[in-house]
Parts: sequence; structure tokens; C-alpha cells
Amino acid sequence: MAVWTHRWWHPARAATAGAALALAAGPAALAAPAEVAPPPVTAALVAPAGVAPPPVTAAPAPDGEALYRQNCASCHGDRGQGAQRGPSLIGVGAASVDFQVGTGRMPIPHEVQQPRRAEPVFSADEIAALVAHVTSFGGGGPAVPRVGPGRLPTGRELFAANCAPCHGGTGAGAPLTNGWIAPPLYDATAVQVAEAVRVGPGLMPVFPSQVLTDQQVDDLAAYVQRLRSERLDRGGNPLGRLGPLAEGLVAWVVTLGLLVAAARWLGRRAGE
Ligand code: HEC
Ligand code: HEC
Repeated sequence: MAVWTHRWWHPARAATAGAALALAAGPAALAAPAEVAPPPVTAALVAPAGVAPPPVTAAPAPDGEALYRQNCASCHGDRGQGAQRGPSLIGVGAASVDFQVGTGRMPIPHEVQQPRRAEPVFSADEIAALVAHVTSFGGGGPAVPRVGPGRLPTGRELFAANCAPCHGGTGAGAPLTNGWIAPPLYDATAVQVAEAVRVGPGLMPVFPSQVLTDQQVDDLAAYVQRLRSERLDRGGNPLGRLGPLAEGLVAWVVTLGLLVAAARWLGRRAGE
């Protein structure tokens, strides 16, 4: 039986990503849970003396193991070891699980080429329980990053050098190749930006701390949040503002190829 090994598909994808930029000739064409009413407290207040009020218990903590068994195990294996339909989750780290489930990419109903961002299926508590259960399989991996205040001017420079080649100068996203996309960045929270940088989901390269320090990741997260608010201010659709794609495209493609190779190499070394 073919069992997915961790990240076996990444090098091939990364190799196509640089070339894909050359194809990015044009700009990319690219819902709240019901509130639960609190239980009435009046009953306890008027209860006759001597009758103990019902204990006020919080909702039971979600069972990460059960959630995993029902929603993930069929593809990733019952201990995260990987199976025919999904890669191993051992050692992907809390950041990867939090990113994949928190952006609604996982769970997918069936295998797709590129899981897309969607409304998350689980609540924050359920996601935390899933993260805890998957990390209990072992293997380490990046923790969920803590994002502090960032410097916008540095963030802007770092973004232009490291992210704009794929995501566009305004963060509007761009097509890569064969239907793959670098998605728009307007829905990502600061923590999700930091997670993507440290985890390198799908075709995106990993940027380990030897390449981008924690402070630089904070700077990037701050700048990406700024891009989002600038776009809202302009009140419009982001088409046609892809940034420095046309000019110097050849130089970008070459730089990007090196960047992806270097980031992957460092990422792998850091993971050893
Ligand atoms: C239909 C099969 C399927 C189901 C169900 C599914 N996954 Fe996945 N999962 C995949 C595939 C395939 C990938 C690789 C995605 C890609 O190509 O980018 C993946 C990727 C991931 C990754 C990224 C792994 C890495 O190397 O960084 C995480 C984390 C993950 N899944 C967690 C989950 C969790 C948690 C659930 C349940 C809530 C779940 N998945 C449900 C198929 C599945
Ligand atoms: C080689 C191209 C490439 C580069 C360079 C790149 N990304 Fe990505 N990025 C991607 C792709 C592809 C995805 C979608 C991953 C997937 O399939 O789940 C992605 C996803 C993301 C997401 C998730 C967006 C969402 O809403 O779900 C964020 C945030 C992100 N990238 C930020 C960055 C930042 C910040 C940088 C620079 C440090 C960067 N990326 C560099 C290709 C790239």
C-alpha cells in the first residue's frame, strides 16, 4: 500500500512555483455560528431554601480524539501515521494543524489538488483540542507562533522581497501554474500569517528562523494586516494592482527559484 511520507510532494511543487510566475501574465481573477442562549439563572434564585441549585457546569471540553477519529483519521491514519488518502501528520507541528483547520482548509471531503480557505468547520475550542490530539502523536514541529507588535517599514521591505513574487505587491494573490494559486492574503489573521511563514503550506516555501527572525515575522504580519485595511479603504476589487510582476519579472523568477531552494533546504535542516 502506498503510504504518504511527510512532505514527499513538496520539492516537485516548489520547483514548478518559480516557473509558474512566468505564466502569471495577468492579475489573479480570483459566513457566524448560531449563538447559544445562556441557561436561565432565575430558577436557582427562587429555589426554596435547602434545595441545592443545579451546578453551573461549563460546556464539556471538546474531545480531540473523537473529533480526529470522526473527521481526520480516514485520510491521515488513526495515529496520524498517514494513509493512502493523506500524508502523515507526525511532526507537522501545532502551527500546521492550527493553520489547516483554522483556515477551513481541513477537513476536506475528498482529495483535491489544493485545499482552499473556507469558513472553519470547528470552533476555536475544538480546533485547540484537535491541535492537542495531533501533537500527541509526537514528532515536534513548529508551535503556534505568538505574534507581537511589528514595524511596518521593515514589513513592507520583507514582503516585497519574500512574498510579493507569489502573492502580488498588494497581497491580492496570483495564479501559479496548472491551476495552483497563491491565495489573496486579506482573510488571514496575524497568527495565520506567521503560521504560513513557519509551516509553508502546499506550494509555499518554509521560512525558518534562520531566514526570517521572529521579529521579522511580526513585521510581516503587521504589514499584511495593513494591506488588508488599505484594500478595504480603497473599497474595491483588487484586480489590476498586482505590483511588481511585469517589471523585472525575469529577475524575480530567478531569485525566487533560489529562495525556494534555500528555504526548503534550511527548513529540512532545521527539521532534522
Ligand atoms: C479526504 C482526506 C482528508 C481528510 C478527511 C483530512 N485531510 Fe488533512 N490532508 C489531506 C491531504 C491530501 C493533505 C495534503 C494537502 C496538500 O496537498 O496541500 C492534507 C494536509 C493536512 C495537513 C498539512 C500537513 C503538512 O504536511 O503540513 C494537516 C495539518 C492536516 N491535513 C490536518 C487534518 C485534520 C486535523 C483533519 C481533520 C479535521 C484532516 N486533515 C482531514 C487529506 C485529508
Ligand atoms: C513560491 C510562492 C510563495 C511565496 C514566495 C510565498 N507564498 Fe504564501 N502561499 C503560497 C501558496 C501556494 C499558498 C497556498 C497554500 C495552500 O495550498 O494551502 C500560500 C498561502 C499563504 C497564506 C494563507 C492565506 C490564507 O488566507 O489562507 C499566507 C498568510 C501566506 N501565504 C503568506 C505569505 C507570506 C507572508 C510570504 C512571505 C514571507 C509568503 N506567503 C510567500 C505561495 C507562496
